[in-house]
Amino acid sequence: MQIPTLEIAEAMLAEAEQLNPGPWVMHSRNAGLAARTIAAHHPNLDPEAAYILGTLHDIGRRVGRTDMRHAIDGYHFLHQQGYEDAARISLTHSFPLKNAPAAAGKWDCTEAELRFVEDYLAAVEYNTYDGLIQLCDSIALPGGICLLEKRMVDVALRYGTNAYTIDKWKAFFALQERFSREIGQSIYAVLPGVVETTFGF
Ligand SMILES: [Fe+2]
Repeated sequence: MQIPTLEIAEAMLAEAEQLNPGPWVMHSRNAGLAARTIAAHHPNLDPEAAYILGTLHDIGRRVGRTDMRHAIDGYHFLHQQGYEDAARISLTHSFPLKNAPAAAGKWDCTEAELRFVEDYLAAVEYNTYDGLIQLCDSIALPGGICLLEKRMVDVALRYGTNAYTIDKWKAFFALQERFSREIGQSIYAVLPGVVETTFGF
């Protein structure tokens, strides 16, 4: 896979934290932890690659406080360095539905960038890692890994809902069911700290 090494990925996140400190950094680490844990129980996923991809999925936030354009910025940052598989995750993680306007948050990007995302989504066939990081992004809070339902409500409260929200929630539930089926048990049986993080004790 065209992804950075673990050491380079850690250094990228550390540098990004210097540039733009915030809760997104711990969210990223927890997404990586969730991805690595599920991958360790999965027949055809590599835990270290999953951790690297999860850790870097929001690396576009290195440039500052942005909304949906963090996905585009992350894509270009990793693409320019030749890390094509990590670059695609930066973009696809925001789109469990292959539909640009369905994403949560504001489209703080140009018309040309919106078209670029739409064309990219139309051309790409999601692989197992795309689905894994979409799922892990949606269960990773800065404070730990939580129940999917909690994070979905958290996002709805912060960013609002739109006409695609219910379809997107269904897509997340489908991912949760898919990965639970593929690892032969509930994802919550293997992920650490879910009860504590979900209920806050
Ligand atoms: Fe994220």
